Amino acid sequence: MLDSSRVDLVVCGDALVELEALPSGSMNLVYLDPPFFSQKSHGLTSRETGQKYSFDDRFDTLEDYLALLVPVLREARRVLSEDGSIFLHCDRYASHHLREEMDKVFGVENFQSEIIWTYRRWSNSKKGLLNSHQNIYFYSKSDAFKFNQFFTDYSPATNIDQILQERARNALGRCSYKRNEAGEVVLAKEKKGVPLSDVWNIPYLNPKAKERCGYPTQKPVALLQRIIELVTDKGDVVVDPFCGSGTTCVAAKSLSRHFYGIDKSEDAVLLARKRLDEMVISESQVLASGIESFSEKDELENSILASLNAIPVQRNKGIDGFIRRDGCLIPVKIQKENETIDDAIVLIEHASRGKAFVAKIVIQTNSRHNLFNPGEFLGDTDVKVIPYLGLQIEDALKPLEQSRVAK
Ligand SMILES: C[S@@+](CC[C@H](N)C(=O)[O-])C[C@H]1O[C@@H](n2cnc3c(N)ncnc32)[C@H](O)[C@@H]1O
Repeated sequence: MLDSSRVDLVVCGDALVELEALPSGSMNLVYLDPPFFSQKSHGLTSRETGQKYSFDDRFDTLEDYLALLVPVLREARRVLSEDGSIFLHCDRYASHHLREEMDKVFGVENFQSEIIWTYRRWSNSKKGLLNSHQNIYFYSKSDAFKFNQFFTDYSPATNIDQILQERARNALGRCSYKRNEAGEVVLAKEKKGVPLSDVWNIPYLNPKAKERCGYPTQKPVALLQRIIELVTDKGDVVVDPFCGSGTTCVAAKSLSRHFYGIDKSEDAVLLARKRLDEMVISESQVLASGIESFSEKDELENSILASLNAIPVQRNKGIDGFIRRDGCLIPVKIQKENETIDDAIVLIEHASRGKAFVAKIVIQTNSRHNLFNPGEFLGDTDVKVIPYLGLQIEDALKPLEQSRVAK
């Protein structure tokens, strides 16, 4: 570990020279976003200050490009701790060459993932497929690498039966749902969701994003936060030898990690330091609303599910979500505007048929009852009906209104 005077810095210098000055094993994560061999000169002007930023991504030959990167990769390996990891960001221009070089420097056995960072782009008139992803190679220094497993929500298209029911193999080796002696489907213990995959859908910064600082090829902080959280803990040190506007440093600081940024451009270094003082990070609508942006639920239903900390379920008439209790999942149905309470009970009973839930809940949102059986469900039900807070308030205020009308 570096002493505290040598971390949380952004230095101006050459990536290789500065890495050589760092002690072996002192870094927990190296993230590199070097020139991509795009053979372009990148330039952009900051909307806020009018300052022009540029960097050159032109090389005479591929050999020249690899001559810049390969020694940096070797130094990156040296400065990494035994449980450390490296993430190398590149794209279609040189990804195939860089992966070979990474295999040579880090060893094929330490290849962990090729992350596809995908984002939405507006079409251009170019002939061919619209390019809408970049590649990030994740290698570890050894097999003792740190890894914090993340889980994502189930897709709205997931069949809830798949989430809930335990599977077993029968005598013929076929997979089927496990049943108890009463023939009921055995429910699985609470599941955490789907482990994070290697395809990451994180929006590129839009031209109006608060976080955008005018640096060409600036990456979103959200992308770096995800990488940092995956392989480091609080207090660990992250180095970015081509830090540009300092996105990695901002992400590391926001997550209580130490950082060390290097860039050969003085303008970039000054900008990175300014961003570290200001710490402006955009809230991504897509990331924040995530899968909910595909939700078929209305605002009230979403807010009730959120207040219950429930896992939303889509495309199911009888179950809107599950709440977790002691490792069990409890189905919740929210009474729709045009539904009677009895209809809601019938629907949740129907959706739960054959599944041994420990409880079932209907959240009552209006006082509509069935015409013929007001407020009464015909048949046995153990569904608990809980009036939604807004409805309780309405009911509590009703006598007041009635007395005012009577006067
Ligand atoms: C793709 S940009 C990094 C962008 C950065 N990730 C961000 O979000 O702003 C690449 C950076 O590498 C820097 N660079 C190029 N060659 C370098 C070298 N030999 N040593 C240090 N920095 C270098 C450039 O100045 C440029 O800022």
